[in-house]
Amino acid sequence: MKSTISYTSDYLLVEGGKPLKGKIDISGAKNAALPILMATLLTEDLCVVNNVPKLLDVKTTLELLENFGASVKQEGNKVVVSASKVNNLYAPESLVRKMRASILSAGPLLARFGKAIVAMPGGCSIGVRGIDQHLKVFEKAGSRIKVKHGYIHIEVDKINPVEYTFDVITVTGTENALMFLSRCPKRSILRNIALEPEVMDLVDVLKKMGVEIEIYDRTAIIIGNPDIKGFEHTVIPDRIEAGTFMVAGFITNGDVTLEGVRLEHLGSVIEKLKDAGAIIEILGKDELRVRSSGRINSLSVSTAEYPGFPTDMQAQFMAMLSLCSGVSEITENIFENRFQHVGELQRMGANITVKGKTAIVKGVDKLYGAEVFSTDLRASASLVLAGLVAEGTTIIRDIYHLDRGYERMEEKLSKLGAMIKREPPTGHF
Ligand code: EPZ
Repeated sequence: MKSTISYTSDYLLVEGGKPLKGKIDISGAKNAALPILMATLLTEDLCVVNNVPKLLDVKTTLELLENFGASVKQEGNKVVVSASKVNNLYAPESLVRKMRASILSAGPLLARFGKAIVAMPGGCSIGVRGIDQHLKVFEKAGSRIKVKHGYIHIEVDKINPVEYTFDVITVTGTENALMFLSRCPKRSILRNIALEPEVMDLVDVLKKMGVEIEIYDRTAIIIGNPDIKGFEHTVIPDRIEAGTFMVAGFITNGDVTLEGVRLEHLGSVIEKLKDAGAIIEILGKDELRVRSSGRINSLSVSTAEYPGFPTDMQAQFMAMLSLCSGVSEITENIFENRFQHVGELQRMGANITVKGKTAIVKGVDKLYGAEVFSTDLRASASLVLAGLVAEGTTIIRDIYHLDRGYERMEEKLSKLGAMIKREPPTGHF
């Protein structure tokens, strides 16, 4: 029966049932690369960022930097930025809509120019995702903020040092505040900050640029440097990509070795995967091997801020636990609407019931291939994982969501023996 829907985005075709075997290299972390690329706006000096993954969100970030007037050169996974000639302080809606993290341009623009006009990021499918905490820090330091016609207009004559305790632990809120204060030569204190490795990678870059930052527990003491310098930095490996491929190796009964991981960033994921029955061997300082014990144990998983179990691995674990022996519970504590993948997994035969923040996952013997739709970045990854183990063929639509956060996922999985390929939009099906 011809469907009348016309598709505009590539889709993936996945043939389930093949155990993944082989070695895979982990790319640089998207959520570290984005703030670090924004930090180049803080200085007139040349900045070199290595191990930048080739992702849609990175492409949008580079477009945003060029929109401000910076010159950007991308050679493979290396990006060279010179923001000496910034002549525009306006982040247009067309770019901000594509990537909420565009709000991270506000901190550096305010720090260097005292002005930023950024389109309101708006919500996204996983939740409201406010930016009140970002704005509170700007305001506390003396900024004047006006919202009109969907844009946030922020101006500050002189950034005063602040003492601020975040009402919620926010990754980009912490990153924006650190960059905003990085040229203020007086001592500021931020409490209840986020400690994600991606935040710490930005801290390492700001220190290289001449900013003094000390972190004790969840408190950061910052003494900025008006004469902030350029930097060269290699972005940390992506712990979420690593976790995603570990799940892939485990649920396909495969034998997968990950190279170029940062083991200390994977603690909670390794622990939970072992509880689920994965056999994980550390082969070296940045290498690990994942195999299956032949069964998937039921688990109780609760997402939390780092070093807790990451919300960005929740959807991937749900795909895995759909096949667990028994009943699992997954509680999402960070975002209020991050269960969009449940409906799509149910289409493949998963038995999942959502009660408030908790999904009850009753393990089934088998998942079946179906046509499913990506709704957000990590949800699309969970559908790929389900497709790798489902009986038959799975069609995963709207995979621009996947491309936002995973570099060449189908190529990396094919190298491990997966039967997966990308198809262009073919209009009517
Ligand atoms: C970052 O988003 C990541 N994105 C997300 O990764 C990740 O899921 C999230 O942190 C949590 O770890 C980037 O780093 C680019 P938050 P962010 O501010 O910073 C509330 C992915 O898949 N909040 O830590 O936007 C917010 O609504 C993406 O790669 C406020 O209420 O998340 C949420 O419920 C998805 N007010 C909670 O805090 C604020 O001002 C945590 O959000 C800020 C946040």
